[in-house]
Amino acid sequence: MARITASVYTSHVPAIGAAIDLGKTKEPYWKKVFDGYEFSRKWLKQNKPDVIFLVYNDHATAFSLDLIPTFAIGTGAQFLPADEGWGPRPVPKVIGHPELAAHIAQSVIQQDFDLTIVNKMDVDHGLTVPLSLMCGEPKKWPCPVIPFAVNVVQYPVPSGARCFALGQAIRKAIESYDEPLNVQIWGTGGMSHQLQGARAGLINADWDNAFLDRLIADPKKLSKMPHIEYVREAGSEGIELVMWLIARGAMSDIAGGPAPKVLHRFFHVPASNTAVGHLILENMVR
Ligand code: DHB
Ligand code: FE
Repeated sequence: MARITASVYTSHVPAIGAAIDLGKTKEPYWKKVFDGYEFSRKWLKQNKPDVIFLVYNDHATAFSLDLIPTFAIGTGAQFLPADEGWGPRPVPKVIGHPELAAHIAQSVIQQDFDLTIVNKMDVDHGLTVPLSLMCGEPKKWPCPVIPFAVNVVQYPVPSGARCFALGQAIRKAIESYDEPLNVQIWGTGGMSHQLQGARAGLINADWDNAFLDRLIADPKKLSKMPHIEYVREAGSEGIELVMWLIARGAMSDIAGGPAPKVLHRFFHVPASNTAVGHLILENMVR
């Protein structure tokens, strides 16, 4: 059977992608960000998964106001980096895993979560920047990736509780796949940031760090936090953090297993307009 070996959480700031693509990672401003991922890049090389299930949000790139799926699973064989206005990022195309993705769609929909199935879409910084942060600049990404897009851009967006329950359904789906695959689940986006309006530039480091503490130690209670608290405390784009609850809900302790091991924790401000947060949690059930 397939199993989830670890969950990874990270912000997806687009300027991080630009810093990599333009060779600026050694500049003092950016070095502090990339140093926080040095452990993670080594760890991923040594603990290469067979598949990454990558929870992210599309920023009106593949989808638009014409079509707003709440939860969309990428079942295609490949996904191209999107043109976000400056041309597509010069990163490898993303190879999917149609068989596992179709199995997860079947299982999760039968567990009463109505996913949208997407066979063709481009992927924006929400997906490519986490891959770049964790993998560096390889010619090919290290393994197939199943993109899982969550609407956190246009209200109504799903609640933290819904995301947490969905993570549990995804774990069951993966664990019922009849092949011994090592699967990682990544939750991306966040942390505090607001890109527009009177509070543009808002960062709330205390709140972000408390979110990391609670995500590790008491995610069930954290999942009950209402949207308004994310928006008030972490800014309008802080709502991206509900996606981290999908990855956290997929860990074994939520189904009665032992607590995950915190392998790495990093927090840094500033990076563009966003607080960068990052965690790696290892599943202790094998
Ligand atoms: C920034 C952060 C985001 O999450 C995003 O989608 C766009 C911009 C920023 O910090 O500039
Ligand atoms: Fe974003």
